[in-house]
Amino acid sequence: MNLHFHHDFRDTPGTTLLVPVLQDKATGAAIGIDPIAHHCNLTTATIVQRFGANVHEVFPLAAGENMVILVGLGANPDFATTLKAFASLVVKHEKWLGDTPAVSWLHAAAPTDLVLHTEAAVNGLCQGSYQVGIHKTSANPAKSTFSSLTFYLPDTHTAAAQKAANQGWHIAQAQLRIMGLVDAPANFKKPQRIAEYAVEAGKQYGFRTEIWDKARLHAEGMHALLAVNQGSVDPAVFIIMEYKGKPSANGLPKIGLVGKGVTFDTGGLSIKPSANMHYMKSDMGGAAAVLGTMEAAARLQLPVHLVGVIPATDNVVDALSVQPSDVISSYSGKSIEIIDTDAEGRLVLADGLSYIIRQHQPDVVIDLATLTGATVRTFGYTAAALFSNDDQLAHHLTLAGQKSGERLWRLPLWDDYADDMKSDVADIKNFSGKPVAGAISAAKFLEFFTDEHPSWAHLDIAGVAFGDTPYAKGKTATGYGVRLLVEFMQTLCE
Ligand code: BES
Ligand code: ZN
Ligand code: ZN
Repeated sequence: MNLHFHHDFRDTPGTTLLVPVLQDKATGAAIGIDPIAHHCNLTTATIVQRFGANVHEVFPLAAGENMVILVGLGANPDFATTLKAFASLVVKHEKWLGDTPAVSWLHAAAPTDLVLHTEAAVNGLCQGSYQVGIHKTSANPAKSTFSSLTFYLPDTHTAAAQKAANQGWHIAQAQLRIMGLVDAPANFKKPQRIAEYAVEAGKQYGFRTEIWDKARLHAEGMHALLAVNQGSVDPAVFIIMEYKGKPSANGLPKIGLVGKGVTFDTGGLSIKPSANMHYMKSDMGGAAAVLGTMEAAARLQLPVHLVGVIPATDNVVDALSVQPSDVISSYSGKSIEIIDTDAEGRLVLADGLSYIIRQHQPDVVIDLATLTGATVRTFGYTAAALFSNDDQLAHHLTLAGQKSGERLWRLPLWDDYADDMKSDVADIKNFSGKPVAGAISAAKFLEFFTDEHPSWAHLDIAGVAFGDTPYAKGKTATGYGVRLLVEFMQTLCE
């Protein structure tokens, strides 16, 4: 897609003009629309009577031969509002937009942070073309995107907007690709396929990859990952990715990412109820976030040293499956008593965390996982749970969550909760056995495998990786994590 920027309006035949419009909080009326009213040969009053600029409210108009669409942004839009407004515009009215839409910040009152909203608009317009029905025999194989996108904005903002729009585009591409992976049926994304995805992305965008097969996992002692995989016909893999940017004035921070890559979670012998079990194809949402962040960092050439690891396996039912009461070992050497085979995510993450901390010594370690139903019950689909032993890191991640709209809310890691994870027979057990504080006790389990690393954060993304979106009737991938972590890394380097 070609991006164009102009400070003077050029009416181009066949181009649909998108005009974002703000709302006056007190009166609930669209504001600053004189220029677009004039452009369409209407009075401002005529428009104001019919269009209130609410979020998701759109209003089609004509100016001569060309179509104009007013896009409501509400009174106080943030990044996520603008992104969603543009994405839903594409989903609902793709045909209105044609192949070469233009966005004008000149024809109505613009938000103060024009550059930020330009990035959000690009990101939303790209994401809006996401297709979930790719397995329908009638599916159109050619994905629809625009051939060009033009912005009209004051020339004082052009340079910054160009950079932001470019970033919005790259992040959207990485997000769209991982959304496809999270929405892929379980039989289309066996661990080996996730490994191939990583290798191809590394080749295409510029990061190193290394894949450990099952024999290597045995040789390295990845016993917890192997235990989850032991009932499966599809061998587990461990994916290691490394991207090294050019240092900025602030050096080259080394960031370690670990993503839960459970390609399908039946619960194992502690089997899940069948209602909604199909949604457990999304149990690799953490892995997807790590893959997308590696790709985005490489695409944007961020000044960071990023190491991403993914323990990938399914969690299935078989005569050979790991059983409750089994005691297993782990990469750390610590023993684990299995109480519930459905608490498998923390097992694979335990090996991922020990590995990345011991072998790569990152300055900061962040794991992302669709880890507990308890997080969904606490925050719904609105925020991910954040746990960290480092206040500064927690603060930076929370800020990145606010800016990106991919929200995080911190929960405690008090030692009172560690007691519940003590096993009578092994070093730790994988489930407290109590129906309380599920997200926190899972985090305490993970903490046990961080070797007291001083700067670790755990993001339980169970409620936000997959949910209601404009793209389908059922739940679909959200792309959560990529923008959050890019934002985090950029503030780290500032
Ligand atoms: N993958 C699930 C968590 C999950 C639940 C993700 C709902 C997304 C939506 C995880 O492996 C799991 O089953 N967790 C159990 C843990 C319990 C057995 C200790 C849970 O949360 O119920
Ligand atoms: Zn589970
Ligand atoms: Zn799981």
